[in-house]
Amino acid sequence: MPRLRIGVLGCADIALRRILPNLVHLDSATLVAVSSRHADKAVEAASQFDCAAVTGYEALLARDDIDAVYIPLPPAMHHRWIVESLTAGKHVLAEKPLCVTAAETTEVVELARRHDLVLAENFMFLNHSQHETVRSLVRDGVIGHVRSFSSAFGIPPVNPLSFRYSRNLGGGALLDVGVYPLRAAQLHFPGEFRVVGACRRVDERIGVDVAGGALLSDADGVTVHLEFGFEHAYRTDYTLWGSAGCISVLRAFTPPEHHRPTVRIEEQDRVTELSLPPDNQVRNTLRAFIDAALGRKEAPCGASMVRHATLVDDVRRAAAAHAAAYG
Ligand SMILES: NC(=O)c1ccc[n+]([C@@H]2O[C@H](COP(=O)([O-])OP(=O)(O)OC[C@H]3O[C@@H](n4cnc5c(N)ncnc54)[C@H](OP(=O)(O)O)[C@@H]3O)[C@@H](O)[C@H]2O)c1
Repeated sequence: MPRLRIGVLGCADIALRRILPNLVHLDSATLVAVSSRHADKAVEAASQFDCAAVTGYEALLARDDIDAVYIPLPPAMHHRWIVESLTAGKHVLAEKPLCVTAAETTEVVELARRHDLVLAENFMFLNHSQHETVRSLVRDGVIGHVRSFSSAFGIPPVNPLSFRYSRNLGGGALLDVGVYPLRAAQLHFPGEFRVVGACRRVDERIGVDVAGGALLSDADGVTVHLEFGFEHAYRTDYTLWGSAGCISVLRAFTPPEHHRPTVRIEEQDRVTELSLPPDNQVRNTLRAFIDAALGRKEAPCGASMVRHATLVDDVRRAAAAHAAAYG
């Protein structure tokens, strides 16, 4: 069976902690090399995952024994390295957010199409089976006509040295956690939504947003309400509210592989809690990317990635207008 030969740009926390430990167990891929700006970091990661160590991202892209790369760099670096990777003929799995603007996203999606290469954004929750359960409950009419979607992703403050607090590296709560509720809304409502209003609380000392919210609506007045932040108790949930009840997913975006997800259904006369089987969204996501790159499965939809990035831009614009109105 063919195996996809994969290299990694950067010894990021998410790569070492979640992606590579899963990748090395897949029989459809081989982890060929990890690269870092620092030789010692690459050597340490390579020894942990039994692969080659490469100093510098260019050197990794120059290797002809690599078919695809995983890019877990800070968001503002994604565009440059996606372009370089695609130009070097590699399929790309890039961390979320794919790029920091819709213009950059459109450019890389188009470049991947021109080179006939797979480009995927690593929104792993999309590959967790709990959301398909919710979609089937909605399709079966369990909560009637869906009137609204609300979702939150908030985390306590992270390491102050993290790129998350750097404007130049693409930090900020909207790009780091706010993109999840927005992407989840698109999962449940593939139609056209517009941003009605938004706000972001910017920490003036560091120049990035640390909290925010947004309201979106479609032409029929179905509403989507999103909240996100870096200064919150941990929360990662969503609720669909219909004419006959509500469905809530309590651990929507980051369920660990052994976690049994709970889906809560509230109807007029009863509350039901479904305890679903655990699922490994990391492995599912890697498999989907690998299968697409090996030509066994459809590639991720470029138009969805552009639509998502456009909504992120719109939230940013609406928040700026809101801030200007307050002087
Ligand atoms: N999908 C998910 O569930 C998930 C979860 C967490 C994070 N993420 C995303 O993954 C990406 C990385 O997040 P992370 O938390 O893993 O970040 P991180 O630990 O800070 O890693 C970022 C890596 O980028 C490289 N890098 C290159 N230039 C850099 C610079 N100027 N400053 C800092 N790092 C630089 C570094 O690798 P070298 O020093 O080895 O070159 C560093 O290890 C982000 O896009 C984030 O949004 C996704």
